Formats: sequence, C-alpha cells, structure tokens
Amino acid sequence: MRATVLALGSLSLLLPAAHAVTVYGQIPFGQTSYLASSTWTGEGPAPTGAGDSYTKTLAAYDETILNPPAPPQDFNAAYTIHLQAKNASVGGLSIMQHGSFLGFSIEMSVATQLMGKNASHIQVPFLNLMAQIQQRAGGVHIRMGGNTQDFAYWVEQVDNHAATSKEKSDPKNPTLTPAVLYTDELFHLAANVSSLVNVRWYLGIPFNDTNWRLAVAQKGQAILGDHLIGLQGGNEPDYYLGHGHRSEPYGPTEYANEFQSLIKAIQDDPLVPIKNMLIGPSLASGPWNPQQVWDTGYMDRFKDSLVAVTMEHYPSNNCFVAFNVGSYVDPQQTFPNFLSHNAGLNLVEPYLASAALAQQYGKPFIMFETNSATCGGLPGISDSFGAGLWALDYGLTMAASNFSGALLHVGGQNVYYNPFTGAVLRFLFSYGVHGLTKQLTVAPPTNQSVFNQWTVGAIYYSVIITAEIFGHSNVSQIVDTTNAATPATTTDKGGNSIFTPSYAIYDNGALRRVAMFNFVDDKSGAHDVVGSFSVDGGDMPEQVWVKYFLGDSVSVKTNLTWAGQTFGNKFKVDGRPKGDLNVTKISCNTGAKLCSIPLKAPSFALVFLYDPEQPDPLLGGSGSGSGAGDVVTFETTAFTKTVNTATVDPSVLATSNGQSAKERAQLGSTSSGSVNAAVGRAVVPGLAVLGAMLAGAGVVMAALVR
Ligand SMILES: *[C@@H]1O[C@H](CO)[C@@H](O)[C@H](O)[C@H]1NC(C)=O
Ligand SMILES: *[C@@H]1O[C@H](CO)[C@@H](O)[C@H](O)[C@H]1NC(C)=O
Ligand SMILES: *[C@@H]1O[C@H](CO)[C@@H](O)[C@H](O)[C@H]1NC(C)=O
Ligand SMILES: *[C@@H]1O[C@H](CO)[C@@H](O)[C@H](O)[C@H]1NC(C)=O
Ligand SMILES: *[C@@H]1O[C@H](CO)[C@@H](O)[C@H](O)[C@H]1NC(C)=O
Ligand SMILES: *[C@@H]1O[C@H](CO)[C@@H](O)[C@H](O)[C@H]1NC(C)=O
Ligand SMILES: *[C@@H]1O[C@H](CO)[C@@H](O)[C@H](O)[C@H]1NC(C)=O
Ligand SMILES: *[C@@H]1O[C@H](CO)[C@@H](O)[C@H](O)[C@H]1NC(C)=O
Ligand SMILES: *[C@@H]1O[C@H](CO)[C@@H](O)[C@H](O)[C@H]1NC(C)=O
Repeated sequence: MRATVLALGSLSLLLPAAHAVTVYGQIPFGQTSYLASSTWTGEGPAPTGAGDSYTKTLAAYDETILNPPAPPQDFNAAYTIHLQAKNASVGGLSIMQHGSFLGFSIEMSVATQLMGKNASHIQVPFLNLMAQIQQRAGGVHIRMGGNTQDFAYWVEQVDNHAATSKEKSDPKNPTLTPAVLYTDELFHLAANVSSLVNVRWYLGIPFNDTNWRLAVAQKGQAILGDHLIGLQGGNEPDYYLGHGHRSEPYGPTEYANEFQSLIKAIQDDPLVPIKNMLIGPSLASGPWNPQQVWDTGYMDRFKDSLVAVTMEHYPSNNCFVAFNVGSYVDPQQTFPNFLSHNAGLNLVEPYLASAALAQQYGKPFIMFETNSATCGGLPGISDSFGAGLWALDYGLTMAASNFSGALLHVGGQNVYYNPFTGAVLRFLFSYGVHGLTKQLTVAPPTNQSVFNQWTVGAIYYSVIITAEIFGHSNVSQIVDTTNAATPATTTDKGGNSIFTPSYAIYDNGALRRVAMFNFVDDKSGAHDVVGSFSVDGGDMPEQVWVKYFLGDSVSVKTNLTWAGQTFGNKFKVDGRPKGDLNVTKISCNTGAKLCSIPLKAPSFALVFLYDPEQPDPLLGGSGSGSGAGDVVTFETTAFTKTVNTATVDPSVLATSNGQSAKERAQLGSTSSGSVNAAVGRAVVPGLAVLGAMLAGAGVVMAALVR
C-alpha cells in the first residue's frame, strides 16, 4: 500500500503529569453486609480481625486507577493514509475474516457461575451478552476449558442439581484449582445456550495422563452436535514437565507421540464418531517454541485429525502477587507496554511463521487462550479502557497477520481481566497461596436479584467492536495501514505512529471500513489526532459514518461507550447496551478525495463508507459487518428474587431475522434500570431462564485460574 503523511506539525509539548488518583477498592456489596453475612467454612482457622482477607476486594471489582502514561514527545497529530478502493491493488491483505474472530475461553470451574447452574437455570445476562455478538457476527465461539480441563472428570451426579462441582484442591495443579467434576448437565447447559444464541463450542480432552478419558469427546459430540467445533488435545503441554504432570524426558517429541496415541484412542472409540476435530499444540510460550513442535512432523502426521492449530499466550503476568512465583510486575510501570501498536506486533511476531504454516495446510490458526496477564491479570490495567484499546488492536493485528481467531480468557471473581463477570449471590470464594486454600462463603447483602448486577470489562467492548468490524459475510479482509505512510519530514516519526495504528477493511474486494486508534491519553486536546485517508481507484463518499469507542482516559473503568451506548458500570450490567446509538456523520472532501476523522486522546474510531444502520447494498443487502442484523434480548420480568423467571418474547425470537433498524434500536437500547413488564410476554416453554446462584443454590467455585 502506498501512503504519504501530510504532517501538520510534530507536537512535542511538555504536559503536566496527569492527576494521580489511586483508589483502593471497596467490598463489592458494601463492607457491612459482606461481613455480616459471611461465614467461615474454610480449612484452617478463620481469618481474625477486621481487614485480612474478608475485606479484600475481589479482583474483578478492584478499583485501582493507574496514572495514564505521559504523552509521547514526538507525535504526529495528523496523518494521511492512501487507501485503495479495491483489494486487488493491495498487498499483504489478510485471509477472509469473520466477526466471531474474538471469542471467549471460559475456565471450566467457572462455567456454571457464568452460564448458569444447570441447563434449566441459564444466566440471562450471559445470554444477552452473547446475543450482542451474535447480532453483529452471526455467532460466538467459546472454549470451555483451561487449566481445569486436564484433571476434570465426569460423574453421574453432583450435589444440588448443578452441572459441575469440584473435588478437594490438587496440590499438583499449577494454579491450585481443584479438579472439576461435571455431569451430562454441563453439555446440556451448553446445548441449551446454543439453542438460544448461536454459540459454538470448543472443549478439551483431559491430557493429564495417557489413559485417555474420552467422556468429553463422547458427550460433546452426542449432546452438542454441530455446535461442537473442536476438541483440544493438550493444554500448554510445554509446561507439563515444569508443573510436575510428566517426568523426564518430556519434550515436543513425547508430546507429539502422545497426541498420536490420543488420535488412536479416538479412532478406536465408536462413541466418538467424528475423528477429525482435534486441536493442538496449544503451547504457552513455555520452554518449547512452536518450530520445535513443527520439527516433529506434527502437521504432516496429524493434518487429517486437526481442525485448527492453536497457541496460548499472555503478554504479562501477576504470578508473584498471586502465587509468589517469578518476580513482581509493577502495573504502573507495565501500563505503557499495553498502550501502543507495538504491544500487538510483539504478541504476534513469534507466531507469524506458524500462522503461515497453518494456512499452507488449510487450517485455521487460533490464539486459543489469551488476555492481558496470566495469574489473574494486573490491577488497574486488565479492566481499564486502555486494555479495551489494547485487546482491540491486538485482535486486529492478529487478524491482519492471518490468525483465524483468538479467545479471551474468562475466570472467576478473583481475576482482574474478565470480559464479563457474573454476579453471584452466594458463592464459595477460594483464595490462597502455597497450596493453602481458604474458603469464604458470601451470602447476598440484599434481596436484589442477579439480573442486572453483572460487570463487563473494557475488553468485552473489544469483542463487540471486532464483531462489527468483520460482521457475518465471511468476505472481509483486513490490512494494517500503520506506518504505511512515508515520513513527510525528517522530524516526524513516520506516518501514523505506533500510538495511532490504523487498518483498512475490505468486503467482497471493496474498501468498506477504516479502523483508527489514538492510544495517547491527554485531556488537554494537544494529542487529539486527525486521521485522514484518501481512496485511490474509486469514489470517495460524500460522507462517512463513524462509531467511536470512548472512555475518559486509558485508566478508567467506568462510563465506557461504543457509539454512544454503554453496557453499564460494575454491578449495573444486564447484557444490553444502554443509551442512544450515536453514529457520527462526517463530510468528506470529494474533490480532494480525502476524509478526515477526529480522534480524541484516547479513542478508537470505526469509519464506515456506508450507513451502517442499513444493510450494505454491496453485500446484496445481506448485512455488512456493521451491526446490521438483529439482536434477541433476554429480558427479565423483574429484578428481585421474588420473581425469578425471565422471559423471551416469542415474537422477538420469531422475527429475529427480519427486523428493521428501528425495531432493533428499540430492542437494543434500554434505559438504565428499566424493567420490562411481563405483560404480553410468555415464558419460553421448557426454559425457565433465570439467574442462577440464588441463595442456597449451591456452591460455585471462584478459582484463581490461569
Ligand atoms: C496473509 O495471507 C495472505 C494470503 O495467503 C497473504 O497474501 C498475506 O501476505 C498474509 N499476511 C501476512 C501478514 O502474512
Ligand atoms: C488424571 O486425572 C484423573 C481425574 O482427575 C485422575 O483420576 C488421575 O489420577 C490423573 N492422572 C494422573 C497421572 O495424575
Ligand atoms: C436445576 O437447578 C434447579 C434449582 O436448584 C433444580 O430445581 C433443578 O432440578 C435442576 N435441574 C436439574 C436437571 O438438575
Ligand atoms: C436442555 O437441557 C435439558 C436437560 O436439562 C435437555 O434434556 C434438553 O435436551 C436440552 N435442550 C437442548 C435444546 O439442548
Ligand atoms: C426485599 O427487599 C424489599 C425492598 O428492600 C423489601 O420490601 C422486601 O421485604 C424484601 N424481601 C425479602 C424476601 O427480604
Ligand atoms: C461464515 O462462516 C461461519 C463460520 O465458519 C459459518 O457458520 C457461516 O455460515 C458463514 N456465513 C456465510 C454467510 O457464509
Ligand atoms: C479480493 O476480494 C475478492 C472477493 O472477496 C476475493 O475473491 C479475492 O481473492 C480478493 N483478492 C485478494 C488479492 O485478496
Ligand atoms: C459517568 O457518567 C455519569 C452520567 O453521565 C456521571 O454522572 C458520572 O459522574 C460519570 N462517572 C465517572 C466516574 O466519570
Ligand atoms: C455523538 O458523538 C460525537 C462524537 O463523540 C459527539 O461529538 C456528539 O456530541 C455525540 N452526540 C450525542 C447526541 O451524544
């Protein structure tokens, strides 16, 4: 791609350091009720005194606010990228991408907490959050697994009619997560979710030893049918030796031989009729590098069994704080590492050759588990607006580098990085280090139901936005246009800098959308950017439509908006966007064929070359990747637990594929706190959807995972 910079001047202003605010968190529901209703059920002596662990805020609700990094000294406040109207003239375009590019990896131990206690008790906010993605992308990919999958085992039944339970803590497990026990109900839960929203599942076959236990494969295939899209064989095998799950020698060769043995076991098992949906090698940047696995002949040996090639990676960690392992990572010092395009580039670089190899074999290459930092994420970073920008840019960088997808890991209430955190009225909170697990049962402080007490992290918005960027046409290609610009003067840093990455997105061969970031935090306006693009070989539209992703600063966790709408601050989320949709129209200079988009510091803009609220005529009116499509919302009749049913308007389900934008807007936009009357709505037969985890509903694990 050819591009030049129209530098309007390099800014090197000295700005006062941003005002430092460090707020330490409050107890989720208020300290008094939390303490009053808690009972110690853990091993060992109960924590004594005030303070101590009782008053520790769960990580998911942590209120640490870091200082935004100082703005860069040299910075292009204006740039121009020259884009081509047709994909034929563009070098290095990606493979065809899809709106379900970013999905989720849900730790097995928290699956019931997030999705529902059992198949007849599904969490309404979860359905709503997934429906938002389905509206834009047509579907959502979720992996149910993680560290817990290797030791999990099937049992006929668990207590309290739930889909999962847990056994006593396993000291061998790297993250102290106790083994998960699951029943058929877990698969029914997933199947019932899929019958309501188009969620497609990845599961993991336990790989803790080679006495292959294939219950997950058998039941997954039988119960989920074509909603099951892959079975992982080995999770982070490069850590098996280090974590004591294997003994010497254990390297890529031994792992590959075990993978072969798993394939054999599946071939021999008539209860696993689909033999070729395996996923590997899922390395975690441990002691092995990908090339060592390819050198075992992995692709040639296993290409007929593999449905996708996978890796797992987190750019940072909080393991010292969580487990006293490694060295301390200081969130404040680390924050800037997340706030430039280099973050994404550095993350994909080790995998470029593997992505190309997978493409050569016709396999999707998926970042199977990722997030900002392993061992629970970093306070102040993982749920900040900055992390939202980071995850979005990282996702687009992966897409532009021919990855086929990436799954953001979701843990319990004791991690910082969740895209969404379920409200749980009564749960058993396990915490601990060095093999000592303490448990705290927390009862609800009020009789408010859980329906609108969920919390979303900024990275949930990244998933929604990515879904909108690629849509559901399957004919979208993306190219990274950052630094595609030639420096116009010797003083500027070359095109749109690492702080202002940009991308061009083509549908069916035609330029349709442009994505632009400003990672810099500066309320003064001195680092606001004007990002311009020209269109060569085609018409510049008279105007463009822009949706902004906005937050007050990279540090904040509240009042985030996407196109004017918010999912709500913590404990305020029911899974539906609130507020009026705001699509900003910007006139372009058709004579000069130049369109200029203002980008506040910080912000992200998605520029549409057509009205995103109308079906894209270029795609035969079939939807565009713009949010065209319809959302089914799962509305609750009431917010108190005295009425704990939720309803789905059957007419909404019935018309879910043919509504106008106006009807969509009504469905998708609710005012905060509004309660939809039950009048005229029917409980969907056979589906008493309600918030699970009501008091007495049993035990939910909040395991510290990954
Ligand atoms: C992605 O794949 C396409 C099609 O094979 C190729 O043209 C392009 O160069 C690849 N991009 C990268 C970054 O490897
Ligand atoms: C693998 O996990 C299963 C189920 O938790 C357990 O019964 C078995 O002993 C484990 N194998 C090893 C070698 O730890
Ligand atoms: C699901 O949980 C509810 C509430 O505890 C219980 O009444 C119901 O029997 C459970 N369903 C199954 C199939 O266990
Ligand atoms: C929903 O779950 C129940 C078990 O609770 C199961 O009998 C039923 O088949 C499931 N429905 C779907 C559509 O998977
Ligand atoms: C629930 O809360 C409402 C309002 O705070 C109160 O009037 C009602 O009695 C409570 N119900 C129960 C069962 O505690
Ligand atoms: C796009 O791809 C997805 C996933 O591979 C598939 O389910 C869907 O049917 C495809 N959509 C179209 C319009 O081809
Ligand atoms: C351009 O897009 C068309 C339609 O989607 C596609 O068939 C073609 O392969 C693309 N060309 C390149 C160079 O990516
Ligand atoms: C969030 O927005 C609301 C409504 O606009 C405002 O009252 C509140 O002060 C804002 N909160 C923060 C932390 O900016
Ligand atoms: C819509 O968004 C633009 C850009 O952020 C803003 O200038 C404008 O005030 C917003 N309009 C409304 C009605 O909120």
